[in-house]
Amino acid sequence: MISQTVTFHRNNFDQRGAPRIFQAPGRVNLIGDHTDYNEGFVLPAAIDRQIVVAATPRKDSLVNVYALDFDQWDHFDLQKEMVRLRGNSWGNYIRGMAWSLLRGGCPLKGMDAAVAGDIPIGAGLSSSAAIEVAAGYAVLQLSEQECDRKSLALAAQKAESDFVGMRCGIMDQYISCLGRQNHALLIDCRDLGYRALPLPPGARIAIVDSGVHRGLVDMAYNARRLECETAAAHFGVRALRDVSLMEFKNREHELAPDLRRRARHVISENDRTVSAAQALAADDLKAVGTLMVDSHASLRDDFEVSCPELDLLVETALSVEGVYGARLTGAGFGGSMVALLQPEAAAGLTDAIAARYGSAPGRQATVHVCKASEGVSEITNYMKGTSDAGFKKK
Ligand code: GLA
Repeated sequence: MISQTVTFHRNNFDQRGAPRIFQAPGRVNLIGDHTDYNEGFVLPAAIDRQIVVAATPRKDSLVNVYALDFDQWDHFDLQKEMVRLRGNSWGNYIRGMAWSLLRGGCPLKGMDAAVAGDIPIGAGLSSSAAIEVAAGYAVLQLSEQECDRKSLALAAQKAESDFVGMRCGIMDQYISCLGRQNHALLIDCRDLGYRALPLPPGARIAIVDSGVHRGLVDMAYNARRLECETAAAHFGVRALRDVSLMEFKNREHELAPDLRRRARHVISENDRTVSAAQALAADDLKAVGTLMVDSHASLRDDFEVSCPELDLLVETALSVEGVYGARLTGAGFGGSMVALLQPEAAAGLTDAIAARYGSAPGRQATVHVCKASEGVSEITNYMKGTSDAGFKKK
């Protein structure tokens, strides 16, 4: 689908030569949610769903972008003071990226671009991070500016938190930049170091989009983040990452019940994430699965970001033979579930979900057995595959 889209658009650019084409993937998080902005640990993988940007440079500072999926244009000028928010538009992710790179001191050239993608929007699979990263990578490449992947991820996070207004952590943008084929990354969100962990051949990752895509997720998310900051301040530390489970248990009675539950989730989730990475490295998929199930319970009961639909999906997945574990993935409040399973279990999972989840009117879940994929890249031969152009992996 994407290669057709790109070919279509390429024909429209003939007067100025073929555009260059860039892709950035969405992500699934195996475990470690709402830990990144608490400077803790996450364990995501980039997935084989992407945003693709086809772009040609301009001599002036104008950016003209056409979104094929919405049949809409956005136009703005890169001269700093002219990059502003425009309503609630998808274009804000691209505007925000330009704003963030300019603020970071990157001189940028204008571009004409087309954007398309196959990451479902609102499904908790980070389509917004992917559009930021793909557009940022494209404009930097066309402007002949070097930028390492971690700096690109940080610029994209700034775009989302300081320009768009969702005070996100670094996970989504980081994995969209640094994802590795067949690997999950254990990321330390404090020092931004990572360890790449190969996914064992006996494991598959299935994503199930609940079809529940709520509005106002940004507000609820920002509210949770504020609660975590308040709890950290109570403990006298910079972030909840600095509170051990033991210390928490000794002092939890000092916190109001809501804050106590939020802090308990973050502190225990950090421990679970590190343990899950160790289990994955030891090929102990059963142990990873158990930790995923505990993580879901904690997100549901303590962090309160699940919903009945996600709980039902998890319960259904756990009833299928060959499923190691399942949990909501990403911010929650709707969105998707991730399951870790044996390759032979995928068909049983799809059937069970259709029978139990899909039986209620208006409820439809989509199952995607995904491949862990590479981060952002330039597609140099888009009919055959992808190859990376010039960005340093650090
Ligand atoms: C969203 C944010 C991430 C992270 C997750 C929850 O995807 O963008 O930074 O906080 O929620 O883990």
